[in-house]
Amino acid sequence: MHDFEQIIATLGEPFYRNEWTALYNMDCRQGLEAMRVKQVFVHSTITSPPYNIGKEYEKPLSTEEYIHWLSGVCSLIYDVTHPSGSYLLNLGYLPLEQTGRAVPIPYLLWDKIKFYLQQEIVWNYGAGVACKNYLSPRNEKILWYVKNAESYTFNLDAIRDPDVKYPNSKKNGRLRTNTLGKNPSDVWQIAKVTTGANRSSTERTPHPAQFPEDLVVRAVAGFTNAGEIILDPFLGSGTTAIVAMKHKRYSIGFEINEEYCHLIKKRVQQYEQECFSTTQALFEASENYS
Ligand SMILES: C[S@@+](CC[C@H](N)C(=O)[O-])C[C@H]1O[C@@H](n2cnc3c(N)ncnc32)[C@H](O)[C@@H]1O
Repeated sequence: MHDFEQIIATLGEPFYRNEWTALYNMDCRQGLEAMRVKQVFVHSTITSPPYNIGKEYEKPLSTEEYIHWLSGVCSLIYDVTHPSGSYLLNLGYLPLEQTGRAVPIPYLLWDKIKFYLQQEIVWNYGAGVACKNYLSPRNEKILWYVKNAESYTFNLDAIRDPDVKYPNSKKNGRLRTNTLGKNPSDVWQIAKVTTGANRSSTERTPHPAQFPEDLVVRAVAGFTNAGEIILDPFLGSGTTAIVAMKHKRYSIGFEINEEYCHLIKKRVQQYEQECFSTTQALFEASENYS
């Protein structure tokens, strides 16, 4: 049985599934624990957990409880990750009473995670709240963890940045820059999903903390291979599942909120419909041609 089907056999009937993706309406700890016990593995996890900042999908916890809870989830993720797998963890910042107004969550968590920390990626975005008494926040972090520091996936050519300043510059008659572009560096400038009249992103869903697809595309293309299985234990609006499907990766997603599960299902089905319509159009074009 394929590893993807084995995970589904372990977790039971999904809320929704198709050939490439399976969505579970459950607490991720329950699903991860079942996977750990049965020893079924994913290649990579790409996710953004709640930040404990009072969003509609969060139960307020003390910072100590929150870090304890999140490091517990990370430990389960470690246990269900393939030996050469990776973990891309997007984190923001939170207020700490008496200590700091916007403390980056990685400062509180990074060394409580069993994986090897490969690098911290800064996600820089243009739009956001404008502040008067301190700098307007324009970044979050993505911690890139691997299980084995000697053996991991890094597809640099798949994520090269074509925006090269002097593409024709040569040294000893040879082009200095790779024709596919430059290394995208550890600072990623990717627009957030915006909301509001006349400025709402086309990919916007009603979910309040949606990943931009471009961010997940870079993570999927750069750190996973086609045919592998990606996990998102906090699936939200389903961005990881959508991007995984578009790039021929399998995905397993957990989402505790049933309303969001309906949203994800609708988003996935919409993508399936688009694929079907494209195949139909190509088929009809070939029929007319022959
Ligand atoms: C920051 S959002 C994720 C957004 C997502 N990256 C996207 O692109 O839409 C976190 C999500 O985790 C869900 N969640 C919170 N606790 C959970 C748990 N224990 N198990 C599964 N999902 C959970 C919340 O309902 C919320 O939708």
